[in-house]
Amino acid sequence: MAKTILISGATGLVGQRLAAHFLSKGHIVHALSRKKRPSTPHMRFFTWDLKTSQADPEAFKNISCFIHLAGASIGDKRWTKKRKKQIIQSRIKGLQLAFAMFQKQNAFPKQVIGASAIGYYGNNDFTTKFKESYVSKATDFSSEVCQNWEAETHIFTPHSLVSLIRIGVVLDRNKGALPKLVMPVKYYLAQPLGNGQQPISWIHIKDLIRLIDHVCTRQLEGCYNAVSDQVLSQKEFTQTTARVLSRPFWPIPVPKSILKLILGEQSELVLKGQRVCNEKIKESGFSFQYSTLHDALQNILITGSNNS
Ligand SMILES: NC(=O)c1ccc[n+]([C@@H]2O[C@H](COP(=O)([O-])OP(=O)(O)OC[C@H]3O[C@@H](n4cnc5c(N)ncnc54)[C@H](OP(=O)(O)O)[C@@H]3O)[C@@H](O)[C@H]2O)c1
Repeated sequence: MAKTILISGATGLVGQRLAAHFLSKGHIVHALSRKKRPSTPHMRFFTWDLKTSQADPEAFKNISCFIHLAGASIGDKRWTKKRKKQIIQSRIKGLQLAFAMFQKQNAFPKQVIGASAIGYYGNNDFTTKFKESYVSKATDFSSEVCQNWEAETHIFTPHSLVSLIRIGVVLDRNKGALPKLVMPVKYYLAQPLGNGQQPISWIHIKDLIRLIDHVCTRQLEGCYNAVSDQVLSQKEFTQTTARVLSRPFWPIPVPKSILKLILGEQSELVLKGQRVCNEKIKESGFSFQYSTLHDALQNILITGSNNS
């Protein structure tokens, strides 16, 4: 049956693909954006303004599922005090405004799916694997963002079924982390960053879209990690990328100190990582199409079909 799904951040890397996916299944998508954008009969754009807490009330009518993806990017700009505040506030204010709009019309969606990230867990190495049941006490900025973001999503708990998806590094040809990881490899500069032992838990964009659909269709409640089976170290990740692109790999590390100097605190995004477990989503009946990095990169970078 056709549903109306409300997506915030439907213009981003994940949102664009997710909206297209739901449209292809015959659903209607309402999209919340900060800018006015042209609508089609099935994909209707509505504006919201987090600064003035204003939103078009039409966006919130007859919604069966609200998927909250919007937020200032964590990886794009340097983490100044102002930017950090924006990263947290953009996510939380979006939730609060959506909640207020649903409350005003006295009708809530059956399900709310909140994006989160594996940064929630803090950092680890290959000796442990983070499961959804792990309660993070990490104090680094990425974890702080996720802890606040997840806690705020629970304002919907008295009214809606709340699902949280802790997303790993999303692999897409044109947007997000992969183009940045691929660039040095293409230019013959594939190298370990620091000691190269930091784990990278990743997911192919197509699997992520299928996974969100799975959580929505089966109305799964609670937290789910969205990462593929094969967690690799940064060194192995780069070696695999170099192999897929037929480029050399140099085992000469880029020193930590240089990365810290260039990126500041944000260097933790490349120098630290998480080894994350995906058993829970698999036990719910989900299977990954891309379980190995080699297969995922072969599809994204070489075959190129179905990529954005
Ligand atoms: N991509 C990843 O690897 C990854 C990994 C883990 C978690 N996530 C999380 O999953 C969500 C979706 O990821 P994504 O990669 O699709 O994000 P994205 O490409 O950065 O898009 C996010 C959307 O949020 C809106 N936005 C941007 N800045 C904003 C601000 N200051 N205030 C309010 N809205 C703002 C934009 O929509 P409008 O311009 O239309 O308003 C944008 O299209 C994000 O919250 C992200 O943190 C992503």
